Amino acid sequence: MFGKGHGYAVDQATRAEQSRFVMDSLRPAQLRSHVDPMLREVEEYFAKWGDEGVVDLKHEFTQVLMLIASRCLLGSEVRDKIFGEFYALFADIEGGVNPVSFMFPYIPVPVNNRRDRAQAKLAEILCAIVRSRKSCNRVEDDMLQRLIDSRYRDGRPTAEGEVSGMIIGLLFAGKHTSAIASSWTGACLLTHPNSLRAALEEQKQAMRKYKDGKVDWNALSDMEILHCCIKEAGWMYPAAPLLLRKALQSFIVQTKEGNEYDIPAGDTLAHPVMLTSKLSHVYKDPEVFDPDRFRFGREEDKVGGKHSYTVFGGGRHACAGEAYGFMQIKIIWSHLLRNFELKLISSFPKKDWSKFVVEPKGKIMVSYKRCRM
Ligand code: HEM
Repeated sequence: MFGKGHGYAVDQATRAEQSRFVMDSLRPAQLRSHVDPMLREVEEYFAKWGDEGVVDLKHEFTQVLMLIASRCLLGSEVRDKIFGEFYALFADIEGGVNPVSFMFPYIPVPVNNRRDRAQAKLAEILCAIVRSRKSCNRVEDDMLQRLIDSRYRDGRPTAEGEVSGMIIGLLFAGKHTSAIASSWTGACLLTHPNSLRAALEEQKQAMRKYKDGKVDWNALSDMEILHCCIKEAGWMYPAAPLLLRKALQSFIVQTKEGNEYDIPAGDTLAHPVMLTSKLSHVYKDPEVFDPDRFRFGREEDKVGGKHSYTVFGGGRHACAGEAYGFMQIKIIWSHLLRNFELKLISSFPKKDWSKFVVEPKGKIMVSYKRCRM
């Protein structure tokens, strides 16, 4: 799906180095410069809403997150010139994630053909951008540039095909998951008045504290209540409810009751995030939407042990984009809370289990009215 220069198409040592490039370029310290571009995209997008109206939040979040991704991951060449074409092709890649392609990835059925054509075309577009930046010595402040500038331990620069594979992979990993988390956050906040009130009050305080009410890195870091609301919604409704790992060596697992189980090398292990999030000896009242469980003082995810919070996976393959994901969702929700009164008018969504990444089922219809905080 991501071409021949990335992911499971390359050997393990190369893959480990590529994971390092991705991790390094998504570290919190690297993310500060993305706040302003993200904010600009969010402000421009929601400026197009009228004074009042009705929207499907899921659709709105998908759109605005695509724009943010084009600006911050892919860069101005895609964002300003070929946004529509790029995303039509990307949709064909996403269409390749379905049960038939999962079981038979290489049979010549239309979804697989469209996926492969789109991958080849996207790689061609991205390779041309990389080549043009290099030949003009043009340096941009985006994720694509960080991957272009990455170096393997032996000093070798990343190749065009590798960069295009890594960036398509990032887009794939980050866009849909963030749209889902933003949508659940909305559904939860708009049905829990106490949490909504607390999140609004926090926004008011941030507007008073920061000069001209400008949202910057420090203001975002201060928004602990909003952060915990997003975290709680993502924890109650994880996008990836099951994580899989293969045991390369045999080992023994001990339960809290002291029972021991041998895990033989070669076995595939499933970690059910849906169930481990609901363990009542780790989390208090796990069925109740209670964002305070993650706040300083309680931090149930930390006191529960290393792997009790696995919404973003864990270990070597833990999500590289957690901080980036939180940042973009916080920017979106901080903007919505400060500028609109919102009401959920459809019923609270059910989980759509028919998708590989579990999302809210159907539309999330919300009425909005413009206001100024
Ligand atoms: C709220 C949004 C997000 C959620 C819930 C989420 C969740 C996850 C999960 C569950 C995994 C699998 C981890 C495992 O198997 O242990 C994962 C992997 C990954 N995620 Fe995210 N993710 C989010 C946003 C992002 C964003 C925005 C990016 C990039 C910009 C990103 C990049 C990645 C990458 C590169 C991996 C693969 C790591 C590896 O296999 O080495 N994610 N994510």
